Amino acid sequence: MRKKITVVGAGNVGANCALRVAEKELADVVLVDVIEGVPQGKALDLLQSGPVQGYDVHISGSNDYEPTANSDICIITAGFPRKPGMSRDDLLLANYEVVKTATENCVKFSPNCILIVVTNPLDAMCQAAYMVSRFSKNRVIGMAGVLDTARFRTFIAEELKVSVENVTAVVMGGHGDTMVPFVRLSNVAGIPLTELLDKAALDRLVERTQNGGAEIVKHLKTGSAYYAPSAAAVEMAESILRDKKKVLPCAAYLEGEYGINGLFVGVPVKLGARGIEQIYQIKVTADEQAMLNKSAAAVAELVEVIKKKMAS
Ligand code: 2OP
Repeated sequence: MRKKITVVGAGNVGANCALRVAEKELADVVLVDVIEGVPQGKALDLLQSGPVQGYDVHISGSNDYEPTANSDICIITAGFPRKPGMSRDDLLLANYEVVKTATENCVKFSPNCILIVVTNPLDAMCQAAYMVSRFSKNRVIGMAGVLDTARFRTFIAEELKVSVENVTAVVMGGHGDTMVPFVRLSNVAGIPLTELLDKAALDRLVERTQNGGAEIVKHLKTGSAYYAPSAAAVEMAESILRDKKKVLPCAAYLEGEYGINGLFVGVPVKLGARGIEQIYQIKVTADEQAMLNKSAAAVAELVEVIKKKMAS
């Protein structure tokens, strides 16, 4: 049977997710958006790229969710983008409503799907999707760590003038300014980063990674990043649909791992056909734990706001 992916939100992130899914021939795609004509037009345009690009998947667009029925994965990208000077957290309540509606509809039409959440503020939106869907925790996954790690890897490769393919990096924590790039666990072809760069350089790359999204918003002025975010979301979808069991940093619902309880925070997980098949709990130093705690506290603040809204 052909696989099916719903992408909610036909903006830049959503449309690029659809394109990347098609180019990998991962699944048929249904693009959903509230704006009349946009998902239909973009889907048709993407479909017509198939004969040239050589992909053979069906892509359709819709303003309602009926055509999404029985999707294997729903990628939720819908939401208001971050404008210059606006933090991810400013988006909280506006995007909560968007994610709530998207989740309700995805669950209604695809009760067995796996949800990949991309909308910001990411970790809090994962929590919203988790609470609204009532799915088991392995089926609600946040895209952030793959993107943040990709940024860290890029900056390391540029700094050292080495192939990005040699660079392995780990970023944990929430997808915000408090994210935790793990210098100790990052390496170039197995050589620890700490052997290759001095503290000043490492601090600079860590800070640039933490502000990686804002750096792009500053350039674009009217929107936020979409090529790397869509690439990250589709790498996760591919690992799930092809049961590749890749170990990727993703926002996962933690129940005691890293001393964090009842919150979505970015940690290394194994992604396979069942979604999150394992959460890797590794030993961290006292400093790293303190940074993770700070990041989790930032996520918890937002989640409290959502919980109050849900209770009201
Ligand atoms: C980013 O980091 C928008 O959160 C997204 O670029």
